Amino acid sequence: MTKKIDVLIDREKIDARIAELAKRIENDFPGDEEFVVVGVLKGAFIFMSDLVRHIARPLACDFLRVSSYERDKSTGVVRMEFDMTQPIAGKHVLLVEDIVDTGRTLKALLGHMKGKKPASLKVASLLYKEVGSGMRPYVDYIGFEVPDDFVVGYGLDSEGLYRSLPYIGVVKA
Ligand code: IMP
Ligand code: MG
Repeated sequence: MTKKIDVLIDREKIDARIAELAKRIENDFPGDEEFVVVGVLKGAFIFMSDLVRHIARPLACDFLRVSSYERDKSTGVVRMEFDMTQPIAGKHVLLVEDIVDTGRTLKALLGHMKGKKPASLKVASLLYKEVGSGMRPYVDYIGFEVPDDFVVGYGLDSEGLYRSLPYIGVVKA
């Protein structure tokens, strides 16, 4: 079924913001040391593909997949469905998320990644919900802070749909 969606953040704003974040990331991860960008599937795939194309230094890409949502509601249990394919020990790592909401997913992922002993670990999230998850200090690069509405587009879905929208929108009830 097609839902009514209001544009919250348009494509131009997203493009400009991602370019800014990429410049900061370039400055923060200097030199020739190994740098791995790890996307959290599925939601981060569009943000990550735009972000890495703006970062002018050699980097490796990897992915992992977790799930906690069923029918647009968090189940509270974060399940690792598949993990990265290369070791990150001793490497500089940037974890890329679509959105931090309750912060449960990020908390679980940080524990998981730190256990693999990267040289450094930073987090980029396209969106951050201002609902007081308390995870703000753990997110080094935030695209936009958003209100506590269910958002879709630019990788984010509602029951599997709308990931391909080239903007961030709010689903109308
Ligand atoms: P958290 O564990 O509550 O922080 O939720 C993290 C995950 O839930 C995100 O990576 C998204 O996949 C999903 N999620 C949370 N809020 C939304 C939303 O408003 N729209 C779409 N997905 C969301
Ligand atoms: Mg996600």
